[in-house]
Amino acid sequence: MRPKGVVIAIDGPAGSGKSTVAQKLAKRLGYLHIDTGAIYRSLAFWALERQLPLEDGEAIARLASELSFEYDEAGLKVGGVRLGQALRHERVAEVAARLACYPQVREILLQVQRDLGAEGGVVLEGRDIGTVVFPDAELKVFLTASEEERALRRWREEKARGFDSSLEEVRASIRRRDEQDARREVAPLRVAQDALQIDTTGREVEGIVAEIEGAVRKKLKG
Ligand code: DC
Repeated sequence: MRPKGVVIAIDGPAGSGKSTVAQKLAKRLGYLHIDTGAIYRSLAFWALERQLPLEDGEAIARLASELSFEYDEAGLKVGGVRLGQALRHERVAEVAARLACYPQVREILLQVQRDLGAEGGVVLEGRDIGTVVFPDAELKVFLTASEEERALRRWREEKARGFDSSLEEVRASIRRRDEQDARREVAPLRVAQDALQIDTTGREVEGIVAEIEGAVRKKLKG
């Protein structure tokens, strides 16, 4: 057992419900919730801000190695700044998915994520947590949902944040990103062999969180 508790890995495509579920689960367990997508998004944000050439993997990797990544109860600070809502735009997500294909970038961020979760007592959400970042996680969960529902969730989120993309644009963006995440050569999105798979389509968040919490409690007892 790790000093602060177990590691729970939650993976799945965009809009599958990872963030909502991971947040609530972490709260119930008194664990830290680590959104690893926000780490990739922060890198994308700074690369855009500094107008780096996005096709230059070396330049992006250099930026990743220069930035500081800290995580606490209030969330993520990258380069000393809490980027918060600035990370949520779909454009930032698209650039994040693109930069996430560079092996040299993934290598740096892999270490960042492992350091953040090393002591346990964490719920990490992402694409490759159970397969690559913490293959020894005590519990692995893979969330899915229909493409229609995932697009609708993201579109509602964007609207609530005051961004005005159309449902069609959000759907197309999610589809592009899914393809990129699943096709990339290093650490593509795939289901870990020993993951608990949950289809969240049409399901209430509370029920899903309770199902995962039950699995965690069972692990902790066993
Ligand atoms: O979870 P998200 O939508 O915030 O993630 C944004 C992008 O970051 C995602 O499309 C791919 C990349 N990502 C990744 O490659 N590996 C992770 N563990 C998390 C995110």
